[in-house]
Amino acid sequence: MTENIVWHDTQLLKQDRRKLKKHHSAVIWFTGLSGSGKSTLANALEQELYKKDIHSYILDGDNVRHGLNSDLGFSDEDRKENIRRIGEVSKLFIDSGSFVLTAFISPFIEDRAQVRNLIEEDEFVEVYVECELDSCEKRDPKGLYKKARNGEIPQFTGISSPYEKPINPEITVNTEKLSVEDSVKKIIQYLEARNWI
Ligand code: ADX
Repeated sequence: MTENIVWHDTQLLKQDRRKLKKHHSAVIWFTGLSGSGKSTLANALEQELYKKDIHSYILDGDNVRHGLNSDLGFSDEDRKENIRRIGEVSKLFIDSGSFVLTAFISPFIEDRAQVRNLIEEDEFVEVYVECELDSCEKRDPKGLYKKARNGEIPQFTGISSPYEKPINPEITVNTEKLSVEDSVKKIIQYLEARNWI
């Protein structure tokens, strides 16, 4: 498909853009069940990064599915394509010198591994947002679990579609035990320990 398309190298490089922004760039990849707290954490983390003069941008499932990925549903193949595109977009953000915070269920190990392989080793941080299905269902912030249980939403993650937990994530935050503030602290500490910010 790309045989007649030539890659154009840009004159400014990722390293130059990082230098300008005075920090590293990478994707903070939140994964977890619907209602586990991915968007909440991404937003809280963005606030903290902003306070530290660090450039970041959130890509969120509920928003991206209104635009870029509005043609995709929730079959296994569509979820795969959803994550593939987000991976590609994340790579562009990383190239631009920013952190990108992604909040997608991203239920399949293989799809997340594909994103990891797409970008450099020191540019991917998988954050498992751990929360038991029971608790997510009790929270049910969008009323979707109730609908899924009533059979109104097919292939709902955790109910009628699988969620594959990360095997070796860089960071795990259990949102039943940790406050939002402490979860964000844990992620910031990780970024600082790597000298990325
Ligand atoms: S993913 O599986 O492809 O990564 P994504 O994060 O983009 O999912 O979208 C998940 C959001 O879409 C959920 O938080 C929920 O609000 C909504 N949604 C609608 N239908 C489904 C479904 N069948 N399974 C999971 N989430 C759904």
